[in-house]
Amino acid sequence: MDITTENELELDLSEPSPSTVEAMKRIDGDIAILGIGGKIGPSLGRMAARAIAQAGVDKKVFGISRFSEAGLKEKLESWNVKTISCDLLDRDDVAKLPQVPNVIFMAGRKFGTTGAESLTWAMNVLVPANVANHYRTSRIVAFSTGCVYPQVEPSTGGCTEHVRPEPVGEYAQSCLGRERMFEYHAQRFGTKTLLFRLNYAVDLRYGVLHDIATSIWNDNPVVNVVGHFNVIWQGDVNDWALQSLELCESPPRFLNVTGPETASIVSVAEMMGAIMNKQVRYLQQIPGNLCYLNNAAGAFSRFGYPRVTLQDMIRLQAQWIIAGNRSLNKPTHFEINDGTF
Ligand SMILES: NC(=O)c1ccc[n+]([C@@H]2O[C@H](COP(=O)([O-])OP(=O)(O)OC[C@H]3O[C@@H](n4cnc5c(N)ncnc54)[C@H](OP(=O)(O)O)[C@@H]3O)[C@@H](O)[C@H]2O)c1
Repeated sequence: MDITTENELELDLSEPSPSTVEAMKRIDGDIAILGIGGKIGPSLGRMAARAIAQAGVDKKVFGISRFSEAGLKEKLESWNVKTISCDLLDRDDVAKLPQVPNVIFMAGRKFGTTGAESLTWAMNVLVPANVANHYRTSRIVAFSTGCVYPQVEPSTGGCTEHVRPEPVGEYAQSCLGRERMFEYHAQRFGTKTLLFRLNYAVDLRYGVLHDIATSIWNDNPVVNVVGHFNVIWQGDVNDWALQSLELCESPPRFLNVTGPETASIVSVAEMMGAIMNKQVRYLQQIPGNLCYLNNAAGAFSRFGYPRVTLQDMIRLQAQWIIAGNRSLNKPTHFEINDGTF
């Protein structure tokens, strides 16, 4: 597997697996993706449209966002995603959205929380309440985050879905609030829901591996405040999100979504350094031991292992940076472990 251009990358991230194509034949009705305008949404929308075409079924994909990125609406339309501009904070706007049997919710706010906490709470709690109320008769896959769990040491193997949330800081607390809003509406209306607890998607233009590779390439020290992490190829995230529509239930199901490896920052950085022919330097002598780590064994047992391995992601990421390919310039700040985003 080699990815050398943005076009190849976008094609790969939106390539549906045979299981997703089969799922499109079974799932009834149209699909709406809310908050499609971010880092993951466009590739997810395109995958849904491609899976529907390959399945030969008649189904629409709606992409709903404010569309603050110029040109994204047109790009999505060219991929057969029907776009609708909507500010999800506005309850009257939400009330006008078309009813569909399948909803994937991905809107949220993280960076800039410190100093503007109320907006983060509105985005991560009020918006889910608006959406869950409007789509009470739909199936809802709601993107969440592994940051709702407590930080743990690598020897634990990561938090399973049975670990009680203990979010650190207002961003993570508001993400638990998002989950609770979907849970509340599922209990009240019987809405079939799945909370999709994702830890770090890899897309080459952003992500934890992107941030490590960029530091090494620019001769900056690798930030190793958090010594271990989990990542998963964004194409696998998209595949699992679409298949998760069939797993929604009431009360909601919780699903950890990440790769099988507990990646050590030192071993990843040294592998990248070798590919880039660079000496790796670190911010601190001993890497930090408390990390956000998720155990996604439940997802592997349902969907199988991710299609792209960690070793391949490391190589693809290093090659992407060496080639000077595009970055979204959206650092993940995965090193933050005091909750202040
Ligand atoms: N990427 C990851 O590795 C990762 C890891 C853990 C969890 N997650 C979760 O997965 C979800 C999707 O991730 P992502 O990286 O794609 O997030 P993202 O880049 O923040 O995208 C979310 C998008 O939601 C849209 N949005 C924000 N406010 C809105 C509003 N008021 N009304 C309508 N749309 C609004 C924005 O697009 P517009 O400007 O077009 O409105 C924004 O780009 C997020 O909720 C995040 O918590 C992601």
